[in-house]
Amino acid sequence: MGQLRLGDEAPDFEQKSSVGPIRFHEYLGNSWGVLFSHPADFTPVCTTELGYTAKLADEFAKRNVKVLALSVDAVDSHNKWIDDINDTQGTKVNFPIIADDDRKVAELYDMIHPNASATATVRSVFIVDPAKKVRLIITYPASTGRNFNEILRVIDSLQLTDSHSVATPVNWEDGDDVIIVPSLKDEEVIKQKFPKGYKAVRPYLRITPQPNK
Ligand code: BEZ
Repeated sequence: MGQLRLGDEAPDFEQKSSVGPIRFHEYLGNSWGVLFSHPADFTPVCTTELGYTAKLADEFAKRNVKVLALSVDAVDSHNKWIDDINDTQGTKVNFPIIADDDRKVAELYDMIHPNASATATVRSVFIVDPAKKVRLIITYPASTGRNFNEILRVIDSLQLTDSHSVATPVNWEDGDDVIIVPSLKDEEVIKQKFPKGYKAVRPYLRITPQPNK
């Protein structure tokens, strides 16, 4: 398939994982999903990333998000590595690691960038909503660990957009003021949705307190 873009349906797949075979869409059910790839098992940066992600289990659960990691190594290798992650990071990996040794998922999601590495997946992140639409794609180089607090921040922003017709400004953090989406023009609807009022800095820049706080 062509390159995956925001708004596309996240391709479904069936693949082996550290917790047994997984059908992606069925596994997600009505949850949001974070699918992220890493270059290989037993690599240092990934070990820290997966450990930290495990520690965020409550944060993902609060937001109705299921997490899946992936690399092109096999299930046996994943399981041995999970013991190492648990040991070295002081946690318990509590999400599946997909064993994409035939690169089926890596190809579907364009996770191998041949000019970076012919065999290893780059650090891709896909956020998928409950309708199975791709809502975020980011790609990091192999040598840079991702910021999983940022991934939580984006999920908060996306969920607020869906529930309250707001966008979030630069460096927004949960609890900060937000922006009324420009497409919302009806003053009656705006009054109902934003009873705390708003400040129009410009007609297109309307700031309001975060509605769900
Ligand atoms: C890794 O830990 O995955 C890694 C570290 C340095 C360079 C590339 C990858």
